[in-house]
Amino acid sequence: VGPVKKICCIGAGYVGGPTMAMIAHKCHDIEVKVVDINAQRIAQWNSDTLPIYEPGLDEIVKGRRDQNLIFTTEVDQAIREADMIFISVNTPTKTFGVGAGRAANLEFIEKCARKIAEVSEGHKIVVEKSTLPVRTAEAVKAILGEATTGATFDVLSNPEFLAEGTAVDDLLSPDRVLIGGEREEAIQALVDVYAQWVPRERLLTTNLWSSELSKLTANAFLAQRVSSINSISALCEATEADVDEVAAAIGTDSRIGPKFLKASVGFGGSCFQKDILNLVYLCEYFGLPEVADYWQQVVAMNDYQKRRFVHRMVRTMFNTVSDKKIAIWGFAFKKDTNDTRESAAIYVCRDLLLEKARLSIYDPQVTKEQIVSDMEAVFQNGDQELSAVSRQLIENNIEVVSDAESAAKDAHAIAVLTEWDEFEKADFRAIAEQMKKPAFIFDGRNKLKNLSLEDLGFQYHGIGFSR
Ligand code: NAD
Ligand code: UDX
Repeated sequence: VGPVKKICCIGAGYVGGPTMAMIAHKCHDIEVKVVDINAQRIAQWNSDTLPIYEPGLDEIVKGRRDQNLIFTTEVDQAIREADMIFISVNTPTKTFGVGAGRAANLEFIEKCARKIAEVSEGHKIVVEKSTLPVRTAEAVKAILGEATTGATFDVLSNPEFLAEGTAVDDLLSPDRVLIGGEREEAIQALVDVYAQWVPRERLLTTNLWSSELSKLTANAFLAQRVSSINSISALCEATEADVDEVAAAIGTDSRIGPKFLKASVGFGGSCFQKDILNLVYLCEYFGLPEVADYWQQVVAMNDYQKRRFVHRMVRTMFNTVSDKKIAIWGFAFKKDTNDTRESAAIYVCRDLLLEKARLSIYDPQVTKEQIVSDMEAVFQNGDQELSAVSRQLIENNIEVVSDAESAAKDAHAIAVLTEWDEFEKADFRAIAEQMKKPAFIFDGRNKLKNLSLEDLGFQYHGIGFSR
């Protein structure tokens, strides 16, 4: 195994795109090809408007594109040329058959392994970048072992820990890079790539299975912290304690630490729920139902938090929101991303629509098409067809507007569902004048908590405190 000269990454998504752009940015002597079967996505990566919004990403991609960073649909050729192949395809929750709703759908991983086995020649290092159930490398190795071309393979696990919205910074200076493998030489080849910009002490190497399992475990622990503080937020609302004060107080304990203790309307994103459900499924599969129940509760608490938010809105607005206009500020699952996968906003909007509210939605980065498609999917709930009633609700009761102020015009309430910084800077005096009275604000992110909005005539309700 010599030094890596050519890399191919299968999957040009939220992980494949930024991680490969960073390798190309930091290692000019490595040619990086990012391939995808989705031709539209590849075209977007090659255009002025990248398919994902991520602060700082444009500069990095545009700085290396068509030099040592290439986006292409020529999958076979890129695999054939590469010394190292990253698999960075999606691993969504299975929606059918055994393990539906919990197990990871490994169809795309398996297809990649089969494709690599089919077209490879010589020696390749195959790197699992996607988040996978522990022991997936066993299946990948078995499939690669059937290659009839004489090709040989090493399989490594190198899970990605970047968070959306801060992907570039996370990739520039990661807390750690985790590499699991069996053969020292193969591990070293990947260590040498990262060592071009990551300090050696942050490059952790483990066995394959520890690496695979560490990724699910990290996400489960992170999500658990959010569910834990959210559970306390409910108790705070009942007792005049303030969850932000409680979080600050416990966060100063160095054993607990201050990060990831922000109470919210609920965690979203493509990873947390999917990965915990996968962990739950694995625990059951390996005969550990008590462990499975323990982790399942993290998701149950998150569902409760989203429902609780809507209940509180309805109860506060005199037990009815029917035919009331509600401004929805923010639809992405967190700020600084255009990603809406599993966003709490989807579920809050669904429940408000079922209460027959009229929604005016504004998000600085999410398109109308995305919002409508997310709402259709949540009402469809896995069914083939969207019912006529649901379609009518979406068509008649949702509008998507291009600024926060217009969303709030003539509205009875504003619901803040994403913590976009621009919301703090809104002209609340002007907004108050244009809203129905009483003018309610339900802040699912405690973003506007320090603005004394009561002084402008608002009734302000946040998460985990009452005043
Ligand atoms: P994504 O859906 O944005 O991208 C996956 C891409 O893979 C898609 O563009 C799809 O067309 C492509 N693809 C699927 N099958 C293919 C095939 N056979 N050949 C070529 N291309 C194929 O997904 P993502 O958010 O980038 O996540 C990828 C993996 O990384 C998942 O396992 C996820 O759990 C993990 N992960 C995601 C994040 C995150 O923040 N999104 C962070 C860490 C880890
Ligand atoms: C997560 C992991 O953090 C990352 O390491 C992994 O690689 C992918 O999954 P991501 O989902 O992109 O990253 O964002 P993250 O910052 O973890 O936020 C997830 C959700 O939790 C968001 O909806 C966020 O708003 C919410 N959250 C986070 C809280 O509600 N409170 C917090 O204190 C932190």
